[in-house]
Amino acid sequence: EKEHHERTKVKNIQVIELGRYEVDTWYYSPYPEPYNGLDRLFLCEFCLKYFGKRSTLLRHAAKCALRHPPGDEIYRSPPAGPGSVAPAIAMFEVDGNRSKIYCQCLCLMAKLFLDHKTLYYDVVDFLFYVLCEVDNEGYHIVGYFSKEKASQGGNNLACILTLPPYQRKGYGRFLIAFSYELTKKEGGFGTPERPLSDLGNVSYKSYWIRAILEVLHAGRGSMMSIQDVSNVTGIHPADVREAMGTLQLTQYVKGDTVLNVTPRIVEEHLQKMDNRLTILIDPARLHWTPYV
Ligand code: ACO
Ligand code: ZN
Repeated sequence: EKEHHERTKVKNIQVIELGRYEVDTWYYSPYPEPYNGLDRLFLCEFCLKYFGKRSTLLRHAAKCALRHPPGDEIYRSPPAGPGSVAPAIAMFEVDGNRSKIYCQCLCLMAKLFLDHKTLYYDVVDFLFYVLCEVDNEGYHIVGYFSKEKASQGGNNLACILTLPPYQRKGYGRFLIAFSYELTKKEGGFGTPERPLSDLGNVSYKSYWIRAILEVLHAGRGSMMSIQDVSNVTGIHPADVREAMGTLQLTQYVKGDTVLNVTPRIVEEHLQKMDNRLTILIDPARLHWTPYV
């Protein structure tokens, strides 16, 4: 009932200004009074605090010392090759318990782009992985995902967002891939919290299919089971089954769903995808140990 109410609430804030971007919002977010009724919010792009007037933001910005998310930098992209225009990126791990205000501000901002209910204030049990583009001025937030410190349901990701100015450039895929890199370090497999939004669904499907096909391609000729694929990718066996099912690359044998592929079919599918945007993760550059 409460959830339904939240969902149907009318969009309140229409536009946010964040760093050099002006972003049209998508959904309602429960910013507290008196910000709730404002058409336009001005956000500090580093600490994500919100203001009703540009002048107040500028006063804040003059004294805000933050230039990156308040956590540990756990990943930095390899230096760009000569002639490359790809921006440097960095990932920060922010603890919801140690940086409560920041994480609450992050969640309030994220809700502007998320249809379903998310957490806003109970951030202490979550870690936030915040992706930034890096330049001389600092670390500009691109997106993030959150992860429960101890998930009972085997979820390796709670919420994911790429801010609209950065969407459709491969960052969502990078965030998803990153969540599975963490899962591989923890051992075992994980799955995103449901429900997925439509955009979450297409992004995950696309990620799963490609990650699975790449593993099958690398294991060329060898027979891999759904469980084998899950072990190598960190993708939940049910998600492997579903993703491969949509390509009709599974088969029902003696009461079990099994993969039904040949090296040639794998290659053909991969070829159709090799124009896709990919920001690769170099696992050797990930400095992280599981939360205990
Ligand atoms: N229409 C069609 N396909 C799309 C769209 C779109 N608007 N956006 C992304 N895709 C596809 C891309 O084509 C790509 O597939 P491909 O590699 O097969 O071509 C795939 O989705 C991923 O694209 P990216 O550029 O890597 O993803 P992006 O940075 O745009 O982020 C995300 C995807 C995070 C879902 C983004 O759309 C977003 O933040 N949406 C709003 C918040 C949201 O819905 N989050 C998911 C909620 S579910 C959950 O949190 C568990
Ligand atoms: Zn600030």
